[in-house]
Amino acid sequence: MSKTALVTGASRGIGLETTRRFILNNDEITTVVMFARDSEDFDTNVAELEKELPVGRRIVPMKVDVGDRSALKKAIKQAHDEVGNIDVLVNNAGYTNPVPLQQVKMADFEKTINVNLYGPFTIVKTLLNRGNRFDLIVNIASTAGINGRSGWLTYSASKAAVINMSQVMREELSIYGTRVVCLSPGRTATDLRKTLAPDEDPSTIMQPEHVAQVINTMSSPVGRFIDSENIVVRQ
Ligand SMILES: NC(=O)c1ccc[n+]([C@@H]2O[C@H](COP(=O)([O-])OP(=O)(O)OC[C@H]3O[C@@H](n4cnc5c(N)ncnc54)[C@H](OP(=O)(O)O)[C@@H]3O)[C@@H](O)[C@H]2O)c1
Repeated sequence: MSKTALVTGASRGIGLETTRRFILNNDEITTVVMFARDSEDFDTNVAELEKELPVGRRIVPMKVDVGDRSALKKAIKQAHDEVGNIDVLVNNAGYTNPVPLQQVKMADFEKTINVNLYGPFTIVKTLLNRGNRFDLIVNIASTAGINGRSGWLTYSASKAAVINMSQVMREELSIYGTRVVCLSPGRTATDLRKTLAPDEDPSTIMQPEHVAQVINTMSSPVGRFIDSENIVVRQ
């Protein structure tokens, strides 16, 4: 069995570590399409992954802003034409700008919802409309989507919506044999966490490879035996 995965926010953090595990430690996934915006980090990390690639495995990096709907649709079509059916989708790209609610700018709220909610929805809908049949969709939410956090209004609201959207997707797509997993990490040592908690020592919290390992397990045959309603991964 040779499967194709698409991981968004694959330039660093949880998305990069998930891509690495898919390509190195997953018996079924042979191709991973990586979505992220253009950055030095992305180029460097792709070049490093290329050096580690086992024979018969490939990565397909694509530069796209998940918050730009028309660019996103174009990139999805291009990816689908190039690699064919996407069997495993990991909606991981995430954005946050934590400010007290009086200081929330609507444009920034809209950006948060665009990247964290409309992006994943657009990818799923566009691929379904092209006849794609997913085995598995993993939507990355957050424990902040379960309990809203002071100062994180826009982010918490967007992640609560991801949890709810995942429930609907799970019900609607089950007729196609698609599993939909919602995964809510707690504090994980990445750039995004630094934005949310700048004074925290990253060595004291969960690392991105720990979350990636859980995503990889969910994508393996044993994953189907784990209740995927909203998996909380935290210390
Ligand atoms: N770290 C935590 O404590 C924590 C806890 C709960 C949930 N999460 C969730 O985990 C996911 C991954 O975040 P992370 O912690 O691994 O943070 P990260 O290392 O900062 O990575 C965030 C990723 O999202 C991508 N991204 C952001 N905006 C994007 C856009 N407009 N278009 C395309 N890609 C975009 C970034 O890519 P570029 O900037 O290179 O484009 C990057 O690859 C997010 O959904 C986040 O909300 C994280």
